[in-house]
Amino acid sequence: LENGVARTPPMGWNSWNTFGCNINEALIRQMTDAVVNSGMRELGYEYVVVDDCWMNPNRDSAGNLQGDPSRFPSGMKALGDYIHARGLKFGIYQAPLAETCAQYFNSYPGATGSLNHEAQDARQFAAWGVDFLKYDWCHPSGTIDDQVRTFAKIRDALRDAGRPIVYSINSNSIHDKTGPRRNWSDVANMWRTTEDITNKWDTGQTNGYPMGIQNIVNVTVPLASYAGPGGFNDPDMMEVGRGGMTDTEMRSHFTLWAIMASPLIAGNDLRNMDAATTTVLKNASLIAINQDSLGLQARQISNDGTRRVLAKRLANGNVAVALFNQGGSTTTVSTTASAIGLTGSSFTLRDAWTNGTTTTSGAISAGVPAHGTAVYVVSGGGGPAPTSFSLVSQNSGRC
Ligand code: DGJ
Repeated sequence: LENGVARTPPMGWNSWNTFGCNINEALIRQMTDAVVNSGMRELGYEYVVVDDCWMNPNRDSAGNLQGDPSRFPSGMKALGDYIHARGLKFGIYQAPLAETCAQYFNSYPGATGSLNHEAQDARQFAAWGVDFLKYDWCHPSGTIDDQVRTFAKIRDALRDAGRPIVYSINSNSIHDKTGPRRNWSDVANMWRTTEDITNKWDTGQTNGYPMGIQNIVNVTVPLASYAGPGGFNDPDMMEVGRGGMTDTEMRSHFTLWAIMASPLIAGNDLRNMDAATTTVLKNASLIAINQDSLGLQARQISNDGTRRVLAKRLANGNVAVALFNQGGSTTTVSTTASAIGLTGSSFTLRDAWTNGTTTTSGAISAGVPAHGTAVYVVSGGGGPAPTSFSLVSQNSGRC
C-alpha cells in the first residue's frame, strides 16, 4: 500500500502471543520500557502493539471507542503519549466486523468492532496518536469480495484521517485455503499468510490452527513476489523467546523471518529475556538483511524437501542466502554463487550469526543441524548490476 509507511518490514512487539487477553496499561508501559532498556529500540524495534482485549465492550454516548476502564484507566491517548515519549510508536487492534475476536474468549466480554464506524474509528485512532492498526477478520464467513471491500473501507478512512498509520490485516486465511492467495498489497501494508502461529516447530497443521514454524514458511515462501516497500507478507508475530523450540529452531525461525522480509514483531515477554533470546532478537546482521531498502522477500533457489535454499538480493548488490535444513538430522546444504545470481571467480561469505568471513570461488555450503539455518551475506564476484539480477526481476505483480 502506497501510504508512505512500512517502506521496510515493520518491527516491534505485540501483546498477543504471550498475554492474550490479560493486558493492561501497566503491562504495556513495562513492555515499552523493556524495548528501550533491552537495546531493541536502537536496533529498529519500533511499534508497541496492543492486541485484542483493550476495549470497553461498549462505545460512549457519542459512539466513540474507549479503552476498558479497569485495564486502561488512563485512556488510550495517555498510553500512546507514554509510548511516544520513549521514542516508540503506538499500535492498536480492531476488527472490521461487529465484534473483535474477544467474543470467542470466555475471559472477556467481547468488544465492538469497527463495522459501520470506520470513519469515526479512524479519526479516533489518529486522535489517540495511533501509528499502526492491526485489523483482524474474526468471523468464519464472508466472501473474498466482502473482505476486500471491508478491509478497504478503513484503509480509506485512515488515509482521510490524515495520520500515517501502518495498516496490518488478517484475512484469517478464510479464502486462501483452496485457491491462490490474494496479493493484498493494494489494500494493506502487511497481511497475514496463515492462521495463528504457536511456539512449536511443527504442529502437524499445514494450513490450519495452530501453525508451527515449518509450515508457516512453506506457505509464505511462494508468496515472495507480493512483497516490496509498502507491503509485506506477514507470517505472524514471532515466537522467539517463548520456549517450545530448541535454540537452533529459535535461530532458524528468526533467520527465516528476516530473509523473508517478514515484519519482525516480537511476541515474547521482553522484561525477562534469557541471553539466547536476546542474542537472536538483537542480531544486527539479520535485522539489516530484513530491513534492506529494496524490500525484497527471499526467492527459493532450491528445495528437495530436506534442504531448502533461499536468497535475498540486497540494495548494495550483495545477496543474503539461507541454507535451511528441514530434516531431522544434520546434513550439508549447498548452493553456488551462480545459482543465487552472482558471477565471478571469488566471493566473500559473511556468516550473519558470527560475522566471520570466508572466501569461495563459488561453492556455498554448510553442515546444518536439524531444523537449523545457516545464513551468509555473499559479496564480490563483479557480477551483474543489481537491476539485471533475476531475483529482482521476479518481483512483479504488485501494485
Ligand atoms: C486472531 C489473530 O490471528 C491473533 O493474532 C490475535 O490478534 C487474535 N485474533 C486476537 O483476538
